[in-house]
Amino acid sequence: MDDPIICLSGVEKKFGSFTALKDITFDIGRGEFFSLLGASGCGKTTLLRILAGIEQPTRGELTIDGKPMSGVPANRRPTNMVFQSYAIFPHLSVRENISYGLVYHKLTKAEAQSRTDEAIELVKLSGLGERSAHQLSGGQRQRVALARALVCRPKVLLLDEPLSALDKKLREEMQQELRSLQRTVGITFVFVTHDQEEALTLSDRIAVMSGGKVLQIDTPQALYERPNCLEVAGFVGTMNLFPVTVKGTEGLKVVANSSQIGEIHGQRNDRIPNDGDTVFMAIRPEKITIAAGEAPTGPNRIAGRVASVSYLGDRSHYLVSVDGLAEPVAVYLSNLAGGTIRASAGTAVMLSWDEANALVLPR
Ligand SMILES: Nc1ncnc2c1ncn2[C@@H]1O[C@H](COP(=O)(O)OP(=O)(O)O)[C@@H](O)[C@H]1O
Ligand SMILES: [Mg+2]
Repeated sequence: MDDPIICLSGVEKKFGSFTALKDITFDIGRGEFFSLLGASGCGKTTLLRILAGIEQPTRGELTIDGKPMSGVPANRRPTNMVFQSYAIFPHLSVRENISYGLVYHKLTKAEAQSRTDEAIELVKLSGLGERSAHQLSGGQRQRVALARALVCRPKVLLLDEPLSALDKKLREEMQQELRSLQRTVGITFVFVTHDQEEALTLSDRIAVMSGGKVLQIDTPQALYERPNCLEVAGFVGTMNLFPVTVKGTEGLKVVANSSQIGEIHGQRNDRIPNDGDTVFMAIRPEKITIAAGEAPTGPNRIAGRVASVSYLGDRSHYLVSVDGLAEPVAVYLSNLAGGTIRASAGTAVMLSWDEANALVLPR
């Protein structure tokens, strides 16, 4: 990476004999909106606390803005943290809560005031400065927490599931605001979430974590289109998995076979499979097309029978049973004008897809 602001190298964190983080090594770019995504307990908060200086790694190196952070306490780091619970003072006003972030900064009263005004404006709380924090809605409280962190002008803002307490509609609104706020201020955001849709919507890049390890770091599109393992594929969206045996590989292309569904052509990721390996061909539901009735000819075609159809307005979800497969195949079709087939439960159909959309994943 050209200009990283955060560099983690071999970072490990143990709590007694339990290893919460294992060999964490990656960089975060200056100005990136970077997310840590993973199920509860996978180590996201622990990693964020290490960046903040609230926890110390048991091994490995961390530099922020080119400086080693070993021995640098939280209040001397160019970071600020927004917590999952807002941690604001209910008896103080919005303005008092926000300017509290500046107590350790040696500013004149006028400077502190103008910075506080600026932060209030940034999070769209203008006119509410004198209101007491306990009179605010959940969304407004989270804005106060954001402003209190931003008022210190950190180089890196660390956000630990800051939107998880909000209901769905407000959360989606705040996601858009958070993204545009990040673009406006231009500082690096490290954002923790267990919500894959939230991570995909917001991030420049995402690190998918599991059991204290990073499984894959990529852009939202690359994570979705080219997951490097089953766990990432399953975590980010739905994936159909066809068990197959590899017959041959040429460049990126892999030819595989299954006694149940015939020959399947797909593409590999970085790993080169051996002939005879049993792997999965993984195909996203929206990459499969359905045609009524025809018999399969050639590779990447499977005959099946519609088990169920769910109408979701803009699209319909089909589950298609295929002889010899334990799980029905999921197919999502967009309900374009005139573009739908009216298959209903019981209809015989043929499924097909482009080989570029079938990805080989190790079992
Ligand atoms: N202070 C601690 N002492 C012992 N175990 C801890 C401590 N903090 C976190 N853990 C454990 O480390 C693991 C990761 O926790 P955490 O980073 O909070 O996960 P996440 O934020 O992804 O839900 C969990 O199993 C948790 O129980
Ligand atoms: Mg957490």
